[in-house]
Parts: sequence; C-alpha cells; structure tokens
Amino acid sequence: MAGSGGLKRLAIILSGEHPTLPLSEVCAVMRSEGVAHIPVAKHDQLFLVDAGDGATDALLARSAYAMEGGRLLTQSPASIDDFRRSFDGMDWGFIKGRTFGAKAKRVRRHWEQVDTQKLQAIVGEVATRESDAKVDLKAPDVWIRSVITDAGIFTYLMDLESDRHAFSSRKPKSRPYFHPGVLEPKIARAFVNLCGVRRGDVFVDPFCGTGGFLIEAATMGIGAFGMDVDRRMVAGAGRNLRHCRLDADIVLGDARALPISKADGIASDPPYGRGTTTLGQDVREVISGFMESAFGVLKAGGRVCTASPIELRPADLAADAGFRVVEEHRMRVHKSLTRSIIVAEKR
Ligand SMILES: C[S@@+](CC[C@H](N)C(=O)[O-])C[C@H]1O[C@@H](n2cnc3c(N)ncnc32)[C@H](O)[C@@H]1O
Repeated sequence: MAGSGGLKRLAIILSGEHPTLPLSEVCAVMRSEGVAHIPVAKHDQLFLVDAGDGATDALLARSAYAMEGGRLLTQSPASIDDFRRSFDGMDWGFIKGRTFGAKAKRVRRHWEQVDTQKLQAIVGEVATRESDAKVDLKAPDVWIRSVITDAGIFTYLMDLESDRHAFSSRKPKSRPYFHPGVLEPKIARAFVNLCGVRRGDVFVDPFCGTGGFLIEAATMGIGAFGMDVDRRMVAGAGRNLRHCRLDADIVLGDARALPISKADGIASDPPYGRGTTTLGQDVREVISGFMESAFGVLKAGGRVCTASPIELRPADLAADAGFRVVEEHRMRVHKSLTRSIIVAEKR
C-alpha cells in the first residue's frame, strides 16, 4: 500500500504498557531523527503512519515502545473472506526469489472468532501461488506479519523487531549502585526520547539519582550531563555509568541553579516529596525552581520531559516558567500516586 507524497505507509506495533506514551515516543523519535512522517490512524496498539526513509531504522535504534513494524501490505475487516480478498491484485515482487515466513497474532482479545493459524495459511498459500518465493519458517529472508486489532487485520512486511532483551539487561537492580524508586530503563528511554535530543546533542538530567536517564541517553550516543543534590547519588551514578562502559559529566548541585550555559533537551524524574530527599525543601518549590532553571538553559525550541504527582500540577508549573506544554500523560502508579508526565517546549 502506497503512502502519501513519496512516503511509505508503515504499520508500527506499539507496546501496550501505556495508552498514550508509546505513540508519542514513536513520533518523538521520528521527529528528532528528521524522518518525515504523517500520522494516518491509531488503533489499539497499532499506529499507521506515512513515513520517509530511515523510519524503521530510527525506531529500532532508539524507541522503547515500538515493538515491531514494517511496510503495510494490506488491511481488511476482521473476517477470513475479507482478509483473503485483501491480497487480490497485490504485487508480490518484493519476495521474488526469496524465502518468507508468515506469522499472525492478535492484540488483546480482538475478534477472537478469527483464527490466526488460518491467516498464516492464507498468506502462505497466496504468496506461493503468486510468486516463486518459498516458505521457510526457521530463518526466512522476510517475515510477513498479520495483526488483528480493534479496526481489523493489518498485514506488513516486517523490518523492525525490537530487541526485548536489551532493556531488561539494563535493569536498575543489575547495576552496582541501586536506590528504590528508580524508573525502569524503558520509561527512562521514553523520557529521553520525548525531550527530542539526538546524537551529538547535550542532554541534561538535573535530578539524575542513580543515573538511569543518563545511561539511556549515553547508550544512544547523546552527550549526557547529570546533577544531583545528594553526594551518594553523584558517586553512585558515576559507578553505574562506568559499569555500562558509558560516559557522562555528573556534578553535585541543585537543579534550581543549573551550572551550564546550554542544553538541547532535558528529561528528569524529580523527587515527589515521598521516598527521595529534597533536603528539606518544599517539593513544589523545587519543581518550579527547576522549571525556571531549565527554561533558562534550554535552546529555543528545546523540550523538557518530566513527571510529578498530579496534585503538584507540573503542567501549570511549566507554563508559569514560560514553557508551552505540548503533551500531558497520566500514569497511575498505585492508589495514592498518579504521575502526570509532561512534555513542554521553550518557544
Ligand atoms: C526520583 S530520584 C531520580 C531517580 C533517577 N531517575 C535514577 O535513575 O535513579 C530524584 C533525585 O533527585 C535528587 N534531588 C532532590 N532534590 C534535588 C535538588 N534540589 N537538586 C538536584 N537533585 C535533587 C534526589 O537526591 C534524588 O536522587
């Protein structure tokens, strides 16, 4: 299926870990990497987008929440007959002389009457009839993937499959310095991506704690600068970075007075006034002081991505500091903590 204006229509399977963050993160990665993209539709865990060259490579290299994807081949209503018809007249040139495998899966419990095995068999039957390609289910040259979601069945040529092991191998508990309350690598990565930094930029985490955000930024080749008011955290974050064979500048200091002249993007998980220290300062004052300091050092058009308990209204604090709030996501952690995650831009 062709996209618009020389762009390719892609189907991207999003993680189901959060209802809105994965889509935002995927768009943020394409934006930072300068990949042209026009959103087409968002279904349950499936994003259709017309995108320029390099989209799947960029997502593979950077995204926490893009699970799989590739060029959309067909889409159909969720019935076996419609699915079969969706291949009528399709050009199978892309698998000429190659081996292929067909796989089908379902998002959640959508359209359970449609048998995924049958979908795989139909793709195998039509592809071998319409081309000279041979089936190889172990190590095919290409995988043709069908996904059943709320809006029907979408089939794509898979050229993006995330490495699920990469994030779990960086689990906070596997680092030499651990402190409870640290965000998992996937969400830390999403925060870094949401602030729009890219390779060669300067990324700043002013409440760096054990260094989880700095590790994600440095892993992507982005210059990382971290700061924490707690001496043990500064030393511990340094140990963690070295353990991962990564490099970052990490200093002792207060996030309300950033000792740098320019940042391309800022992402941080500040203290919530609960488990982590604020050295006796009022947490709202710490957050608003941080917003002002962040506004001062960010380049024009630079973004900050940060989180706070909803009752602290971080979006209002960002607006008070001069930012334009571009996104807000809610994340329920437990009965007495719902985070508000915001992305705000310096105009
Ligand atoms: C939620 S933790 C950050 C966790 C971090 N993302 C990580 O990967 O470990 C918040 C951190 O903010 C630090 N902190 C508290 N008040 C601060 C301030 N005014 N300036 C800088 N850091 C501060 C705390 O010492 C704590 O390490």
